[in-house]
Order: sequence, then structure tokens, then C-alpha cells
Amino acid sequence: MTTPDIRVHPIRSQDTQVLRHRVLWPHKPSPEACVLPVDDDPGAVHLGAWKQEKVPWGIRVPGLPGPLVGACSLFQQHCDRVSVPWQEGDDLRLRVMGTLPQARGMGAGAALVRAAAEEAQRQGRSMVWCDAREVAFGFYERMGFVFLNDMYHIPDIGPHRTMALDVSLAAQSKI
Ligand SMILES: CC(C)(COP(=O)(O)OP(=O)(O)OC[C@H]1O[C@@H](n2cnc3c(N)ncnc32)[C@H](O)[C@@H]1OP(=O)(O)O)[C@@H](O)C(=O)NCCC(=O)NCCS
Repeated sequence: MTTPDIRVHPIRSQDTQVLRHRVLWPHKPSPEACVLPVDDDPGAVHLGAWKQEKVPWGIRVPGLPGPLVGACSLFQQHCDRVSVPWQEGDDLRLRVMGTLPQARGMGAGAALVRAAAEEAQRQGRSMVWCDAREVAFGFYERMGFVFLNDMYHIPDIGPHRTMALDVSLAAQSKI
């Protein structure tokens, strides 16, 4: 996979909203409604993947040198869906990960996961976990995540499983 023109930078929570609306929550009335109560919590980090090449379908974000094509957010929230073998404070929760349909397969999703793993390591945390949508199971598995539970249903969104990534895999360049 080549990612020569995809870069990842931290962005503001409000800069994720158009992408969240287009990709993840089209059933919500507007981008402004695409917020999480924890978006501005201490330790929250929002990552934006942008393309160096200008593309008309990308999202313009002030301060980013190129169009936003993907985003995800990280929160200091311990995995409470299942019993896990690590301690509170050892993990970060990955949420609202998505890339624009036109950008799929270009490496933006992988670049975001690698940047999330680097951020977790920077914060001294060893695991990143998420509630994965069924359509994204293959992507997360490809990125080194493992399943922690069986399928469960989130209203309006669909089937999910909780998955986790040992971020040392990123340090070893295994993802
Ligand atoms: C899941 C998603 C983030 C993947 O983003 P992407 O930009 O297409 O991912 P990449 O191009 O970086 O792909 C990385 C690798 O994963 C693979 N991959 C991507 N999506 C996949 C899928 N659904 N199933 C299996 N493998 C997948 C790619 O083929 C690539 O593998 P390679 O390195 O062997 O070539 C994107 O499809 C998306 O936004 N989907 C809709 C929203 C969503 O479901 N988000 C997850 C919420 S939990």
C-alpha cells in the first residue's frame, strides 16, 4: 500500500464534524450535531488525515495544508465493555474513525491508526481499543486489532464488536 501523499496532523474537534456527518452519522441533522460529549475532555486528541494533492471532494479545514480525507478521535477512557488484562490508564479509546468514500484504499485509514498508536505510546499507553462496526472488522484486523467479545448491536448504527490493538506492533512497524 502506498501513502506518499497522505499526512496526519492533530486537528480541532469541530474540524471533524463535516467528515463525521458525511461518513459516520448521515442520519444526524447536520455536521454541528456530530459531536461527542467527551470531544473537549482533557486528553482528547483528534487526528486528521489530509492529502497533499488537492481533490475537489476533500474537506477544507483551516490550518491544514491540504484537504481533509479522514479523521479519528482518541479519548482517555478505559475499556469497560469486557474484562481486559490491562489496567485503567494503560489504554486509549479510538472513536469516530472514518475516511471519505473517494479516499478509501489510499492508506488514509492505516495512517490514522498508526498515528493513533504513536499518540498512545507518547502518552505511555500500551493499548488502543474501539467499538468496531461490522463493515470495518476486516480493516481493523488488517491493522493488527483483535476481537475482545461477540457481536452486539448499537441502535441506529448496527452490529459491532469491541477490538483492541497492542500499540507496540506499530513501534515494530508491523502495521
Ligand atoms: C474502515 C475505513 C476507515 C478504512 O479506511 P481506508 O482509508 O479505506 O483504509 P486504508 O486504505 O488505509 O486500508 C488499510 C488496509 O486495510 C484494508 N482494508 C480497508 N478496509 C477494509 C475492509 N472493510 N475489510 C478488509 N480490509 C480492509 C485495505 O485493503 C488495506 O490493506 P493493505 O495494506 O493490505 O492494502 C473506511 O472504509 C471507512 O471510513 N468506512 C466507513 C466508516 C466506518 O465503518 N468506520 C469505522 C467505524 S468503527
